[in-house]
Amino acid sequence: MCGIVGYTGPQSAVTPLIEGLRRLEYRGYDSAGIALGTSGKLYVEKRAGKLNNLEQALGADLPTVHSGIGHTRWATHGGPTDRNAHPHLDNEGKLAVIHNGIIENYAELRTLLEGRGHKFSSDTDTESVAHLLSDLRKSHNGDLPAAMREAVASLRGSFTLLAIHADAPETIVGVRRNSPLVLGLGDGENYLASDVAAFIQYTKRAVELGQDEVVTITPTSYSITDLAGNSKKAKEYEITWDASAAEKGGFTHFMLKEIFEQPKAVADTLIGRLKDKKIQLDELNLSSREIKDIDKVVVLACGTAFHAGLIAKYAIEKWAKVPVEVELASEFRYRDPIVNKNTLVLAISQSGETMDTLMALRHAKSLGARILAICNTNSSTIPRESDAVLYTHAGPEIAVASTKAFLTQVAATYLIGLYLAQQRGVMKDGEVAEAFEQLQELPGKIEQVLETVEPLRELTRTFAAATSVLFLGRNVGFPVALEGALKLKELAYMHAEGFAGGELKHGPIALIEEGTPVIAIMPAGAEHALDEKMASNIQEVKARGANVIVIAEEGQVVTGATHVIRLPKAPAMMQPLLATVPLQVFAYEMAVTRGNDVDQPRNLAKSVTVE
Ligand code: M6R
Repeated sequence: MCGIVGYTGPQSAVTPLIEGLRRLEYRGYDSAGIALGTSGKLYVEKRAGKLNNLEQALGADLPTVHSGIGHTRWATHGGPTDRNAHPHLDNEGKLAVIHNGIIENYAELRTLLEGRGHKFSSDTDTESVAHLLSDLRKSHNGDLPAAMREAVASLRGSFTLLAIHADAPETIVGVRRNSPLVLGLGDGENYLASDVAAFIQYTKRAVELGQDEVVTITPTSYSITDLAGNSKKAKEYEITWDASAAEKGGFTHFMLKEIFEQPKAVADTLIGRLKDKKIQLDELNLSSREIKDIDKVVVLACGTAFHAGLIAKYAIEKWAKVPVEVELASEFRYRDPIVNKNTLVLAISQSGETMDTLMALRHAKSLGARILAICNTNSSTIPRESDAVLYTHAGPEIAVASTKAFLTQVAATYLIGLYLAQQRGVMKDGEVAEAFEQLQELPGKIEQVLETVEPLRELTRTFAAATSVLFLGRNVGFPVALEGALKLKELAYMHAEGFAGGELKHGPIALIEEGTPVIAIMPAGAEHALDEKMASNIQEVKARGANVIVIAEEGQVVTGATHVIRLPKAPAMMQPLLATVPLQVFAYEMAVTRGNDVDQPRNLAKSVTVE
């Protein structure tokens, strides 16, 4: 949730720290701060609000020092104020700590440390770690890594921590538990960060850090140990994407850029996946016997990824004839799910760091299930803890509102559905190849949708003052309705709900008032018997005063609509990848019209690493 960056090397540290924070701001933007490795006492500046506030506060007379740590916050314990902003210091002002996650036993630590005379100056859980580390460092004769190892052994919760001390300011010590931290290896300089985006412009060499590993960096060295102090082997990897992928590239917002990247993103997800009429998913690592033994698929995910899972249910059940359950990851862990070695769990996550999904995955694993991650972020925690991973290759998604990740997640689950269908002998090779071809036509069709979205801007002006927007869909259009409503909520801050068309009469229709905007997603014409049902729903809401915007295929007969948004023709199962796009644009344009911050909507963070 928070973004963390540490730098040590020849540069003036403030530059890579601020640049890194700028690229990590998607993780949280309630406040930002830095500690520079000045000797004597650390130089610390922190400010509530976005990074710009910190930059203005820094001024021109900054000390030129070559190491430091920086933080951008999504508040959990303590409001988003200057005093609660990170870094947090010990009482001597010599040791600074930044933190992502939650220290669950912070209250008892605070009581203990206050009893020893420590004075606290914030309401955060993090500050107790600064005081604890300060005491432990003294008892370890100034050995900060040893102090960190001992401190972490007494912490509960999830965290990434970075610490720096004024007596050895070129050294930065970090640790991670259930929260991301990656090491960037430069030439005579090293980085620690929540995400490679923070240092991608300086180096493409990165090192994965494991659970409860303590990492120590200087400009020319790094070492990794476990909590007992044993050396751990580093797993180095090359970052495959370019720094420009994390830039806006001429678009006004990352979200708009990412919406327009969807044709390529979907094409990249599909590339190389069909050979000789066979779906190629070798990374699944399942024997034919294991595939035949799968008696249930369980999808675990949150938010938009959960909606991708809901669509996957329709496809996998239709194609592979395996029952699919789709679970909110945050609910799954706290009940008694029926999961065993014949269950295939799909853990869907763009970031690969979502704590709810990670915890659900671990729960399923402990029950014997086989875990397949569908993920967009290389070497993140969820793929690392899964038995296998299918990467979506959407490229970095920076905007908090997920767009290209969603479409590629749906495409990836479709590959899995077709693969299972083929391997289990439920679909013939020709049928699988035909469905794959339909998938391959989608990038071109998404392009076509993007060429026709301009009128949506005008539409948002018409409905900008609405207090509530309802979305209706049936079959695969139902999860699309849920996703459309989620986008509008998070970007436009409007009340929005998605409903299954058939449920309307069981309660939600009471919400319709004169002028209520209702967005109806019509299923594809020929393949569904549902057109007429949806047409009835449109009439029902129209009769009660709704303004109905219908998303329908070219040529589909639509009556009663105030506005019709046309999509290229596609088989029903392919429609979600088209119908979602105008809803993304609608939410985007509505946010712009209402003057909201599109890429950093209020109260949200891109990667939710707390439960
Ligand atoms: O990184 P993940 O895919 O695991 O994230 C899951 C949700 O937090 C995420 O999809 C969230 O709902 C988005 N902000 C929606 O746009």
